[in-house]
Amino acid sequence: MSGVFEVREYDARGRLGELTVPRRGVTVDTPALLPVVNPHVQTVPPARLADLGAEILITNSYILHGSAELREPALDRGIHDLLGFDGAVMTDSGSFQLAEYGDIDVTTPEILRFQRDIGSDIGTPVDIPTPPDADREQAQREWTTTRERLDQATGVETGEMLVTAPVQGSTYPDLRERAGGEAAATGLDVFPIGAVVPLLNEYRFADVAEVVVAAKRGLGEAAPVHLFGAGHPMMFAFAVAMGCDLFDSAAYALYARDDRYLTVRGTEHLADLSEFPCSCPVCTELTPANIRDGHDERRHRLLAEHNLHVSFAEMRRVRQALSGGNLLELVETRARAHPALLDGYRRLLAESEWLERTDPVSKDAFFYLSAESARRPEVRRHHQRLARLDPAGSVVLTDGDTSGTDEYDEHWRVCPPFGPVPPALSDVYPLTAQLPERRDYQALDAAAEGIRRLVEANPDVTFTFRHRDWPQSALATVPERVTVEDLSQ
Ligand code: GUN
Ligand code: ZN
Repeated sequence: MSGVFEVREYDARGRLGELTVPRRGVTVDTPALLPVVNPHVQTVPPARLADLGAEILITNSYILHGSAELREPALDRGIHDLLGFDGAVMTDSGSFQLAEYGDIDVTTPEILRFQRDIGSDIGTPVDIPTPPDADREQAQREWTTTRERLDQATGVETGEMLVTAPVQGSTYPDLRERAGGEAAATGLDVFPIGAVVPLLNEYRFADVAEVVVAAKRGLGEAAPVHLFGAGHPMMFAFAVAMGCDLFDSAAYALYARDDRYLTVRGTEHLADLSEFPCSCPVCTELTPANIRDGHDERRHRLLAEHNLHVSFAEMRRVRQALSGGNLLELVETRARAHPALLDGYRRLLAESEWLERTDPVSKDAFFYLSAESARRPEVRRHHQRLARLDPAGSVVLTDGDTSGTDEYDEHWRVCPPFGPVPPALSDVYPLTAQLPERRDYQALDAAAEGIRRLVEANPDVTFTFRHRDWPQSALATVPERVTVEDLSQ
């Protein structure tokens, strides 16, 4: 890897970073959204994309390569001048067309040289997007071919253009992880996770989590990661929390041409809207009826502008959440938009050990917003810490009531979902968490797991646990040698 990516801050696996694009002499703040520009059909002119917040866009070199009208102008004037865009330009290779139509007529060296010759800042080899649920044998065979093409790519004279190394492997986590490792080992620059579009279209967010986490494990922390074809703002926070740094959106234009209106909670049909739930210029100056009345081109352009506004606003919100240390709160909020996204978040939380490794030790606040909060990496970290603590003599653990605790050598409060809190740590993140008073079973179950960790690590200490009305599901986790007193009895 050529050291073009720098991470400044983490939250879960999400990172605020900077991608240096040497050919253009610019840096791009990540997480970043790259609007997709179709060289033939520009729903929103690229100069306007810059006004809306695009520092970088992506277009398709294969379309330009095969175009009688645009090929020569692209070579003569360069892609930035042709599109009228000053920022960085990434190019795709035609792999998507390969997946759609089964065949394309360029090789990796040809298309990479063409991308270089039109002035692309980030080029892409011809990877094979093996679809989800493909045969394992097919996924393996196609990855072998993709990997050979990545090797070819390293031999092409690409100058200062960065080159991507897409990760494939269908829905096989072990293949995705291996592919990630092999892609990183090529020394190429940017690492897209490919062929997830069918998963996204079908709202298979749990499978997205599985595929992305596996690829990330293989790629390692230094790799800048692009999630190919992910352009719906409802999933940006979720994908960023898994460590995706770059996104591309054709969705803003494709949905607009289908009269669909993007929100962070999903997609609406223009025909179903009586109000615009948005404060962008399009939505404050016009009403749904105003837009429905117009001709196709105007309607599609206005919807596309709104779709871009919400998408860039959400990406800014995600970056702000990252720097404020509340990305998981945002993911939890977004997960409420759709049960499938909730499933994705739950699947991601099954990787809390992996999430915990980059999660900051301290943040401003932990907001317990849903039962899923009980599975956050901070809870896991506290449980690991409990296994290393060594109170002495007799310890009473209480769930609020402090009367009679003087009889014991030590008194520790039990704070769901974390569990026992040593007195010295009660003012330290995450034990300063904001919790609802009406606790759910998941918080109590997690707290009981904390008790178990502490008790099992301290066989010579006697423990008493005083609680009020804890459910049997949680008490079953508390080791038998603990004296349990239910104060509500
Ligand atoms: N666009 C969306 N998915 C893919 C992919 O897997 N590979 C490439 N090259 N482009 C894509
Ligand atoms: Zn709007």
